[in-house]
Amino acid sequence: MKPRGARRATFLAAALSFSGAAWSAPDAQGAPPLAQQGARWAADPAVGDCGICHHLPGHDPRDQGTVGPALAGVGLRLNEDALRALLTDARSVHPGTVMPAYGRPATGPRVPPALRGKPLLPEHVREAILAWLTTLRHG
Ligand code: HEC
Repeated sequence: MKPRGARRATFLAAALSFSGAAWSAPDAQGAPPLAQQGARWAADPAVGDCGICHHLPGHDPRDQGTVGPALAGVGLRLNEDALRALLTDARSVHPGTVMPAYGRPATGPRVPPALRGKPLLPEHVREAILAWLTTLRHG
């Protein structure tokens, strides 16, 4: 029998995974650290916020968007190059898409001066999210 503390830790981990915490998502578990970081950044409303349009595996669908396709299994459907192209500029793959061009410099009158000319997501963040997407191999 496990000591009390260990049992509590197991229960906590299970409770957190039901609450949809990205780092305990089934697809992120056991993934390389970069992919786990990517899973956190993708879900973080202050960083990727991909869940506003997509269902991110391991999250409660009721908290997630349905504008874009669910991302479960996307690592099987698309290879790394295709995923990178999507993350850099989804319009280069799907002209007219509402998915933001995360790797293109932000321009236009509504972009705050401090962010002007910078990509919406810096390259190291896009690469971590990409590493996570490639691990999504369960449909
Ligand atoms: C404003 C909504 C929106 C946001 C935010 C958004 N996406 Fe998308 N995404 C879409 C739509 C819509 C599509 C489908 C392409 C199309 O037909 O427009 C798509 C397609 C994709 C695809 C291809 C899926 C497939 O099965 O072909 C991937 C991968 C993807 N998005 C990842 C992301 C990631 C990662 C983020 C966050 C960094 C993100 N998206 C943020 C709307 C969005």
